[in-house]
Amino acid sequence: MSKSNSATFSLINDATGDKYALPVLDGTVGPSVIDVRRLYAETGHFTYDPGYTSTGSCESALTYIDGDEGVLLHRGYRIEDLAEKSSFLEVAYLLLNGELPNGQERDSFVDTITHHTMLHEQLINFYRGFRRDAHPMAIMCGVVGALSAFYHDSTDINDPHARMVASYRLVAKMPTIAAMAYKYSLGQPFNYPQNELSYAENFLYMLFAVPAEKYVMNPVLARAMDRLLILHADHEQNASTSTVRLAGSSGANPFACIAAGIASLWGPAHGGANEAVLNMLNEVGHKDRIGEYVKKAKDKDDPFRLMGFGHRVYKNYDPRAKVMMQSCHEVLEDLGIDDPLLDLAMEFEKLAREDEYFIERNLYPNVDFYSGIILKAMGFPSDMFTVLFAVARTVGWIAQWQEMIEDPTQKIGRPRQLYTGPDQRPYVPVEKRG
Ligand code: SDX
Repeated sequence: MSKSNSATFSLINDATGDKYALPVLDGTVGPSVIDVRRLYAETGHFTYDPGYTSTGSCESALTYIDGDEGVLLHRGYRIEDLAEKSSFLEVAYLLLNGELPNGQERDSFVDTITHHTMLHEQLINFYRGFRRDAHPMAIMCGVVGALSAFYHDSTDINDPHARMVASYRLVAKMPTIAAMAYKYSLGQPFNYPQNELSYAENFLYMLFAVPAEKYVMNPVLARAMDRLLILHADHEQNASTSTVRLAGSSGANPFACIAAGIASLWGPAHGGANEAVLNMLNEVGHKDRIGEYVKKAKDKDDPFRLMGFGHRVYKNYDPRAKVMMQSCHEVLEDLGIDDPLLDLAMEFEKLAREDEYFIERNLYPNVDFYSGIILKAMGFPSDMFTVLFAVARTVGWIAQWQEMIEDPTQKIGRPRQLYTGPDQRPYVPVEKRG
């Protein structure tokens, strides 16, 4: 809970001399906030912050980021510790419940998720309506949005039990939905979930098993997948999470809200960057051309940006990118793959980080810079990279959505604007128009 701070911020309207005292709220750690909820009522003015660079949209206890220090905490636990010592379902439990589970709680949660991984069989027909070459993120938007047509017994957002059932269904079914989107694009049969497998193992099985041969699980890849899911689970009020919160603030059902989050994540400035990084590295092709692309990235007249670089919050190394790069080396080594794209990416990072433009703007690799290289090594096509991001981020979106619904101060999100269109004017009949 936020704490009111005795300090206030004084605001003076220089035109009238009116003075306003704005309350300050303190959190547990990180910047305090100036409470402007009464600003319009008292001053007749809105704040103005397109892109929300200085705006807190909510109070949350889920995830804390210190962008200057490159720190990421989930319910107080460092992402590095969780990635090394925990599992994705344990992190999911932590995000949803606020504490790490004890042995019995963990086993019960894993059992519940495991037994919700199957999809309503009629949804198979839904897939058949898509073109085979549909982008899998388009299929994810469609299928997840349609879940409320199949699971309407868990759409009553005012019923805590229904909210919990919908949450577990989404965490459990996203790997199945994602794997089916991939299989559909290949023209291969769908694989049903296997309950004796772990969450990450089951995901790999549904993605890559074929009826014609026994699927051999690679424990290094299963561990790498579990770690990838942990690294992407939640990240404060990013664009897709804010989309889920705004959609949910109107009372929309959780399936529709998560579909909205998937749509927002797809953008190349956000979760779509992992696919864009690999496309960029393939286009650059050789380290001799890196300088040409760094130059393009610095050119204000060129829309090109260094994909996988920069972040709204991190002005230091994204801690997830560091773990991702370590995982990269492990996976490539285990698979005996010498991917020139990894060397190219590391050379890209080195040259960019030596350039004044990137140093001055504190532009570092973010979570997307190395993830594509691991996923490519694991056998994923680049159009599946953001799908994997969506599978992992679903638990973060759901935890943030639940936190919003349970917030007693929650209201429908309805920003205002600075209007710069025409003032009121009379209607002109068409025969009198120029
Ligand atoms: C994710 O929000 C989250 O938490 C997101 C995420 C999550 O887990 O949910 O972390 C996941 O989305 C990671 C980001 C993936 N996107 C990319 O890698 C795309 C490339 N990055 C950029 O598009 C950009 O860095 C953003 C979108 C990530 C951040 O943009 P901001 O915060 O709006 O920063 P900005 O545009 O104000 O940039 C500040 C300056 C500008 O230059 P000046 O106007 O000051 O001269 O830095 C420049 C920008 O032009 N800049 C870049 C750059 N990123 C910023 N220049 C070249 N290449 C880049 N990548």
